[in-house]
Amino acid sequence: MNILVTGGAGYIGSHTIIELINAGHRVLVVDNLVNSAQESLLRVERITGKKVPFYQIDIRDREALSSVLDKYELDCCIHFAGLKAVGESVSLPWEYYENNINGTLVLTDVLRKHGCKNFIFSSSATVYGDPTKVPIKEEQPKGICTNPYGWTKWMIEQILTDMHKADLSWNVVLLRYFNPIGAHPTGLIGDNPNGVPNNLMPYITQVAVGKLERLHVFGNDYDTPDGTGVRDYIHVVDLAKGHVAALKAIASNCGLAVYNLGTGHGYSVLEIVQAFEEVNGVKVPYQIDPRRPGDIATCYSASGKALKELGWKAELDIRDMVRDSWNWQKKNPNGYEK
Ligand code: NAD
Ligand code: UFG
Repeated sequence: MNILVTGGAGYIGSHTIIELINAGHRVLVVDNLVNSAQESLLRVERITGKKVPFYQIDIRDREALSSVLDKYELDCCIHFAGLKAVGESVSLPWEYYENNINGTLVLTDVLRKHGCKNFIFSSSATVYGDPTKVPIKEEQPKGICTNPYGWTKWMIEQILTDMHKADLSWNVVLLRYFNPIGAHPTGLIGDNPNGVPNNLMPYITQVAVGKLERLHVFGNDYDTPDGTGVRDYIHVVDLAKGHVAALKAIASNCGLAVYNLGTGHGYSVLEIVQAFEEVNGVKVPYQIDPRRPGDIATCYSASGKALKELGWKAELDIRDMVRDSWNWQKKNPNGYEK
C-alpha cells in the first residue's frame, strides 16, 4: 500500500516506518518537527536502505498538505502527529485541543478530498480513564480523562467514529496504545524527549547515563503488590508491527475497528527499575516521592482481540525492552543532537 505517515519523524512513527517498509509498503512522511528531528528519518533510511520521502509540513496547513497529496495515490493514512505531553497539556489546553483536534479535522478533510478514506489513529489507553476493571477490554466504556491531552484522544476517537457512521466508506482503526518503551535493536532510533522526561523509561535511562541524579518514584502507597503504579509496557517495535497488522483490517474493509495494543502484563515501577538494573548491570538510584496528580494505580490491557482479529501479539518481553532502551540511550546520550 501507499501510506501517508503523519508524525513519522517521532518516536513511534519512525519505528513504524521501518516495519511498514520491511512488509513491502511504500510510505511518505509529513511532520512539522515540533517534537522531533529529521535525523530520525535519515537513520530509518540507514536501517532500511530505502529513501523515505519527507515533507516538513504542519497538518493544519491545508494548502501545503493538499499540494503534497496531489502528487500521490494514497491507500491509507497512519496518523501519529500530535502533541503528547500530559503535564504540558494542563498548562496549554488551547494549544493541545487546537493542534490535535483541528489537525485531525484538516487532515481527514484533505484526505477525503483526495479519495483516501482509510485511516489508522494513534489513540491511547488514557481514554479508559481510571479503569473500572483490569485487564481492560476494548468494549469497556471510555472513562473520564484526567487531562486535556487525554480528552483530545477521547474526542478524536468520537469524531472519527461519527465520520464513519455518516459515511460508511471510511475504514477507521483506532489503536489504543498502552505504554511504549524500548528502541530499535540497532540503537539508531529511540525515544528522544525534549527537556526533562515525563515518562518513566526515558527518566530511568537518563539517570543511568548520569544526566539526572535519581529517579523520583511517584507514590508507593497504591493498592498494588509493591505499592507503586502498574502499567502495561510494550516494546515500540512490537507496537510498530501492530500497525502493519492493522492494515489487514483496512484491506478487508473493516469499517470501524478498535484494538488495544499492549502485552496484557502489568509491571510496577520498582519491577521496571529492578529489571533495568539486572539486565543492564547499571544502578538506578531512586527515592520515593508523593503520588503524581492524575496518575492511576493499575492499567493493563486485555490483548486477545488484536490476536484473534489481526493475528498480532507482542513478542518481546520486559528484558528486551529495558535492554533496548539502554542501548539507545548509551549510544545517543544526547538523543539526535550530535
Ligand atoms: P512524538 O512526539 O515522538 O511524535 C509525534 C510527531 O508528531 C512529532 O514528530 C511531532 O513533530 C509531530 N507533530 C505534532 N504536531 C504536528 C502537526 N500539527 N503537524 C505535523 N506534525 C506534527 O510522539 P510519539 O510518542 O511517537 O507518539 C505518536 C502518537 O502516539 C501521538 O499521537 C501520541 O499522542 C500517541 N501516543 C503515544 C504514547 C506514548 O506513550 N508515546 C501513548 C499513547 C498514544
Ligand atoms: N513514574 C514515576 N516516576 C517518573 C515517571 C513515571 O514513578 O519520573 C511512574 C508513574 O507514576 C506511573 C508509571 O511510572 O506509575 C508510568 O508513568 P509514565 O509517565 O511513563 O506513563 P503513564 O502511564 O502515566 O502515561 C503514558 C503516556 C500517556 C498515555 C498512557 C497510556 O504518557 O500519554 O501512558 O498509554 F496516555
